[in-house]
Amino acid sequence: MTDRTTRSARPGPGPVVVVVAGALYDQGRLLAARRSAPAELAGRWELPGGKLEPGESPEEALVRELREELGVETEPGERIPGEWPLKPGYVLRVWTARLLSGEPRPLEDHDQLRWLARHELDSVDWLDQDRPAVAEAARLLPAS
Ligand code: CDP
Repeated sequence: MTDRTTRSARPGPGPVVVVVAGALYDQGRLLAARRSAPAELAGRWELPGGKLEPGESPEEALVRELREELGVETEPGERIPGEWPLKPGYVLRVWTARLLSGEPRPLEDHDQLRWLARHELDSVDWLDQDRPAVAEAARLLPAS
């Protein structure tokens, strides 16, 4: 029996779409963004970012996504160790980033932004897949 059709419909080996997100720091706080779409994610908070486009490095994708979504210029830093599954075929990888210029505004995909100090990180309802990255990102925040 050939199970080509079945197999192609399942998650498994094959190209994985990388979603990059930024742990953006400013003045000892981390930026959280509330999603406005799609409906099943609306109202949940995430580290802003998006899908890598062909030919882009993750850092280039991150700078582009943060420019598109927030209207800011940023400098990527280190990758936060780890990789988190999203829907089948998608993984989330996170980089730290520093704000170079601009004041973040929710231009695309988000309807609210908050700068959170370490003691405020639990005050928003993070997407489940972002929680481990946020926990790691928090280690770089000063005690508050
Ligand atoms: O902007 P673009 O369309 O490239 O990507 P997106 O829609 O912002 O993100 C692609 C997928 O990654 C969506 O399903 C998001 O929910 C997910 N994502 C996530 O789970 N956590 C993040 N920090 C960023 C994106």
